[in-house]
Amino acid sequence: MNRWKYFIGGVKNMKTRGTIAPTSKYTSKKMLKNIEFDKADFIVELGAGDGSITEHILDQMHPDSKLLSFEIDSSLCRVIQEKIQDPRLHVINDSAEHIEDYLSKFSVSKVDCVVSGIPFVMLPEELGDKILALSKGILKPEGRFIQFHYSTIPKKRYERIFDEVDIKLEVRNLPPAFVFICK
Ligand SMILES: C[S@@+](CC[C@H](N)C(=O)[O-])C[C@H]1O[C@@H](n2cnc3c(N)ncnc32)[C@H](O)[C@@H]1O
Repeated sequence: MNRWKYFIGGVKNMKTRGTIAPTSKYTSKKMLKNIEFDKADFIVELGAGDGSITEHILDQMHPDSKLLSFEIDSSLCRVIQEKIQDPRLHVINDSAEHIEDYLSKFSVSKVDCVVSGIPFVMLPEELGDKILALSKGILKPEGRFIQFHYSTIPKKRYERIFDEVDIKLEVRNLPPAFVFICK
C-alpha cells in the first residue's frame, strides 16, 4: 500500500490502527523466527493491516497449511486481497473477538500460532482482554502467541495470561518495535 495513504489512514483511525507505518520486514522476520513452520498446520493472524506480515507468513508456510487473517478495516482487507492471491490465505473482515466462530467453519479448535499486530494498548481493556483470552484458548499446548508493541510496558498484562513471555527489540522499524513471544 502507498505509504502516504497508510499514514493518512493511520492518523484517521489511530484508535484501531495504532500506527502510521506498516511493520518492517525485519520485525516480521523476528516475529516469525519463533514459528516451527514445518509443523504448523493452522496459523491465525490478528490485525493483518495491509498484509505486511501476512506475506512473510505465506512465504514460509507449508503448502498444505492454512492462514486465517483477521482485519476489521474493509479497505485494508481489499488491499490484501488485491496484493495476495494465495489459496492458503483466508482474509476475514471481522473483529478478532469472533475467532472461534470462524475456526469452527474450518472444523478447527486449536491452532499452532497466533501472530498479532492488534494495538491492544489502544483498545478498550475489556475487548483486548477478551481477544487475548480467546487467543490463548485456541493455542495448542506448544503453540505461541506472537505480538509486537512499541514499548515493553504491556509485558505484565501478557505475563498474567501466558506462562512465559520473552521480548526482543527490533530497531529497524518505524518506530522501533518490541516482539513479544508468549508461550
Ligand atoms: C498496528 S496495525 C498492524 C497492521 C499489520 N499487521 C502490520 O504489522 O503492518 C493494527 C491493525 O489491527 C487492526 N485491528 C484493530 N482492532 C482489531 C480487531 N478487533 N480485530 C481485527 N483487527 C483489528 C487495525 O485495523 C489495524 O489494521
